[in-house]
Amino acid sequence: MAFDLQSSASTPPARSSADSHDAAPDRMHHADPEMVREILEYVADRLLTPEVPLDGLADRDHLAAAISGLIDEHGHDFRDVLNVYAEVLAPTVLSADSPRMFTFIPSAPTKAALLFDMVVSAASLQGISWFEAAGAVIAENQALRALADIAGMPESAGGVFVSGGSAANLSALVVARDTWRRRRQQAGLPDIPLRVVVSDQAHSSIANALSITMMGALVVDTRETDGLLTGSAISRALAREEEVAGVADICAVVATSGTTNAGIIDDIASIGEIARERGWWLHVDGAYGGAGLLDPRLTPRYAGIEQADSVVMDPHKWWFAPFDSAALLYRDPRLAKAVHTQDASYLDVIHEEDTGDLNPSDLAHHLTRRARGLPLWFSLAVHGIGAYRDAVMHGNDLARYAADRISGMDSCALIREPDLSVVLFRRLGWTDADYEAWSRRLLEQQRAFVTSSKWRGETVGRLVFLHPSTTREMIDEVLEALR
Ligand SMILES: Cc1ncc(COP(=O)(O)O)c(C=O)c1O
Repeated sequence: MAFDLQSSASTPPARSSADSHDAAPDRMHHADPEMVREILEYVADRLLTPEVPLDGLADRDHLAAAISGLIDEHGHDFRDVLNVYAEVLAPTVLSADSPRMFTFIPSAPTKAALLFDMVVSAASLQGISWFEAAGAVIAENQALRALADIAGMPESAGGVFVSGGSAANLSALVVARDTWRRRRQQAGLPDIPLRVVVSDQAHSSIANALSITMMGALVVDTRETDGLLTGSAISRALAREEEVAGVADICAVVATSGTTNAGIIDDIASIGEIARERGWWLHVDGAYGGAGLLDPRLTPRYAGIEQADSVVMDPHKWWFAPFDSAALLYRDPRLAKAVHTQDASYLDVIHEEDTGDLNPSDLAHHLTRRARGLPLWFSLAVHGIGAYRDAVMHGNDLARYAADRISGMDSCALIREPDLSVVLFRRLGWTDADYEAWSRRLLEQQRAFVTSSKWRGETVGRLVFLHPSTTREMIDEVLEALR
C-alpha cells in the first residue's frame, strides 16, 4: 500500500518550525494509551503466532514509494505509520527466527528473552557501570558467569555483552595486541608491527579486526586437515615462516569453535599448547558454535577452551536471545579494563569507587550500552540450562539427520561429516544458477530459506539448523527439492 500523506497528517502545518516552539515540548513524550495498546497487540500477535512466516525479498521501488514523505515536520497518525511497517516493510524482512530459516546463522530467540528485551527497551535499561546500573550489571554478570562455567573458565573470568561477534572479536584482539605491546614496553623492547595466527576458515570479522587494529595475519592452510585448525598445522606453518620472516612478531592465535561456513570445531587444546609455549594470547571465536559445549556428546571436542584468554559466544545465535547480543569473556578482565577504559573528567564518578566490580563499559570498544545481556539472563533463569541443552542438541540431531539423508541420495554428496549443526553438500551436476533457482523456488513456496556457499572454491549447498521447532519434515521438503 502507499502511504497517504494528505489524510494522515496528525498536526496541521500551521506554523513553521522556527516559531512553533510555544507548543508543549513534551507532547511526544506523553503515552498515548491507544498507541501503547495497539503496539502491544501487534507484538502479542507476533509472539503468539505458532510459526512466523519466512517472508520474502523486496522490490526497492515499491518500498521507496511506500515510505516516501513519511518523515516530515509534523508527523502522522501512528496507525498509518504502523500500517506501512506491518503491511509493506515487515514482509520484506526475512524472519531470521523462522524454523524454516536454514541459511547464514539463523536466530531463534525464546519468547521469554524476546519479552524481556521489551522490558530492557521500555525501561531504557542501560548497563554502563556499577555506579549507574548495579542491578542490571549484576544480572548480566550472572549470565556471563553461567557461560564461563560452561566453558570451564576460572573464577577470575568476566566480561561484557557487546553488539555482536564482530564487535567482540575486535575488542578481544585489541586487548591481545595492547597487552603484548605493554609487555614489550616493560621489557624495554621497541614497538613492532604485530601478527596473529588464524585459520583459513576463520570468520570474516577476524580479517576485519586485524585490518582495523593494523595487525597482519599468518594464515594457516587447513586443506590437509579438512578445515580443522590444529596445533600441528600451526607448527608446520611456523616452521615455514621461521625460514622466511621469523615469528617474533606474533602476539595471538584465533581458534574457532565452530566455523561459520562448515561448523568445524578447531582443536583448541593443541592450539592452546603452542600459545602457552610462545606466550601468545589465545582467542576462541565461539560466536556461532560456543553453545555446542552444552551438547554432552560434543563437550570433549572443546577441550582447551577453558585455557583461553578470551572467548566469544553470541546469545543472538545459538543461545536463543534476540539481536544484538554477543558475550565476550576474558580470562583476566582487568587486562581488558586497562585497554578499553575511556578517560574523561565527566566519567570520573563511575571510576572513582573501586568496588572490585568492573564496569561493562570498560571491557570493550564502547561506552553507552543497553543492558543487552538481560534477555538471556531472564530466559536462562526462567527455563534453566537443561532446556538450552535440549534445544542445542536438537539442532545437532537435525544436522545428523540431514547429513545421513544426503549421504543416501544418488544426486548428492556430503562434503564432510558435520561437527555441529551445519551441513555442507554437493548437488552433483548443479551450476551456481541451479543452486540459485533452488533457493528462489523454496522461498517463493515459503518452505525454506536456503542459500549456497563455497567450499574450497566450489559452489555447494549449505544448511544450518538452529531453531528447536525445525522438524525433519521441513528438512525433507528442502532435500526433495534437490532431486
Ligand atoms: C564464528 C563467527 N564469528 C563471528 C561472527 C560475527 O558475528 P556477528 O554477525 O554477530 O557480528 C559470526 C557470524 O556468523 C560467526 O559465525
